[in-house]
Amino acid sequence: MIDAYATFAPDSFAGKTVLVTGAASGMGFETARAFLSKGAEVVMCDRDADGLARRHEELGGMAGTPHKVVADMGDPDSIGRMFDYCDARLARLDNVVTCAAIITAKRIPDQDWAHWQRVLGVNLLGTFFTVQGAVQRMQGSGGGNIVCVASDAGVHGGGGLIADTAYAASKAGTLSLVKSVARELAGKAVRINALNPGPTDSPMHSHIDPALKDRIAANLPIRRMGRPDDMAAAILFLCSDAASFVYGAALDVDGGSMFR
Ligand SMILES: NC(=O)c1ccc[n+]([C@@H]2O[C@H](COP(=O)([O-])OP(=O)(O)OC[C@H]3O[C@@H](n4cnc5c(N)ncnc54)[C@H](O)[C@@H]3O)[C@@H](O)[C@H]2O)c1
Repeated sequence: MIDAYATFAPDSFAGKTVLVTGAASGMGFETARAFLSKGAEVVMCDRDADGLARRHEELGGMAGTPHKVVADMGDPDSIGRMFDYCDARLARLDNVVTCAAIITAKRIPDQDWAHWQRVLGVNLLGTFFTVQGAVQRMQGSGGGNIVCVASDAGVHGGGGLIADTAYAASKAGTLSLVKSVARELAGKAVRINALNPGPTDSPMHSHIDPALKDRIAANLPIRRMGRPDDMAAAILFLCSDAASFVYGAALDVDGGSMFR
């Protein structure tokens, strides 16, 4: 098993803070773990209180205790309370990673107005208002890094069995949001970038038949699905000084899924 974080020294993020949304599962949890292992002060946020408590406890053996806050990215007041929590506990906010999202796989006739509102509400509005809160704080404290987790579905479209139109559109919107915020923040010392994961074996896909997962892997040029640590390593990179000239970009970490 490779150590995806081996190129980062154990103190790479010492003295730095990070807020990770969607931290009770998959990439968000792994990102929180990765930052913690590299010395950061971590705030884990999720809507799933029980899951968050369990995953928070799992990190108990590591040096540094992460903070945890329950918040719903589909509710602006809840996002506001998440930032209040951070303001009360952190000296400053250096890094924000938005992983929280819902995935849906409905056929076109089955997607009603409420479905689109729910998916865009969490995945797109939740991301924007988290970015807004991050920018307000980072601009007041000399800068920071933001990574928004989008999706290869935002580039290539969704549809079909895994990700539907509403999900893909929410992720395309996230990519556009990142570009727009980057443009508006020019010269303000806040770097914002997007990450486009390809198919990644996380609890988000727990409902998918193992045979379908095998087919997905076989169709990728790299011949395996992504792992949460593949994504967390790329997020560490985007938040590190090694990426100081990476700005408003969308990094594909997808095993070559664009060649499918
Ligand atoms: N897994 C993949 O194949 C894949 C591919 C491309 C992009 N992505 C994106 O990567 C990110 C992480 O996905 P994952 O695979 O780790 O999924 P996951 O389902 O394992 O984790 C998502 C987390 O987000 C939380 N969440 C959902 N709605 C929320 C809300 N309203 N408020 C707060 N938290 C909420 C969930 O409780 C969960 O803990 C998502 O943005 C997803 O769209 C995933």
